[in-house]
Amino acid sequence: MAFVVAIDGPAGCGKGTVTRILARKMNLVNIDTGSMYRCVTLECLNRGISYEDEEDIKEVLENINIRIEHSDGMQKIILNENDVSKEIRTPEIDNIVAKFAALKIVRDKITPMQQKMGNSQDIIMEGRDIGTVVFPNADVKIFLDCSVEERARRRHKQNLQKGINESYEEVLASIKERHRLETEREIAPFIKADDAILIDSTNMTIEEVVETIETIIVSKRNVSKD
Ligand code: DC
Repeated sequence: MAFVVAIDGPAGCGKGTVTRILARKMNLVNIDTGSMYRCVTLECLNRGISYEDEEDIKEVLENINIRIEHSDGMQKIILNENDVSKEIRTPEIDNIVAKFAALKIVRDKITPMQQKMGNSQDIIMEGRDIGTVVFPNADVKIFLDCSVEERARRRHKQNLQKGINESYEEVLASIKERHRLETEREIAPFIKADDAILIDSTNMTIEEVVETIETIIVSKRNVSKD
């Protein structure tokens, strides 16, 4: 296995930005695993398939092709040969993706795809179950936490910049509901791995979070390369 950094954290905790910066700085391939669950959700919605139609979802999963391409430090999410990087980040997907991500058939398909990505290249992978399920033996495990109000405030600001008009209250309600579904689901619930290092980013700047994790990665990378 190559060198693996696992970053788990809730929606809006800043892990996307932090992971992107660290990937560039430390020459690691950045993999946003949430984008893969978003692709499955988008494909199902486009075909009018609900999260309750397991038979139809099974068929979608048999033929789905998801690729993450990298250029200039940015990830391009390719679903069945189409760039869906923007389409997978709408409030419509935000509000329903946790239902699809909770399904066993979906996770049974996506988890091995993610594990394969860490076999041949040094990666920094962000998600909800990276340190617990996808790479329980990751070289570095970070659990990036943040208060729900601060997360909603950040996500609301991001949305406004993207031209998405949702009120702060709507964003807060959506984030709370998603968090409930993710932590209470039966398979691969979103929990901190026992050996993950907890960082609470509520009152930290992005730069401070990056610096803290960078120091941890450097110390572990030196040790594991010895
Ligand atoms: O990180 P995100 O908001 O883009 O994630 C989208 C959804 O996928 C979210 O409901 C959590 C889920 N997810 C998951 O269950 N496991 C992961 N490793 C990553 C994301």
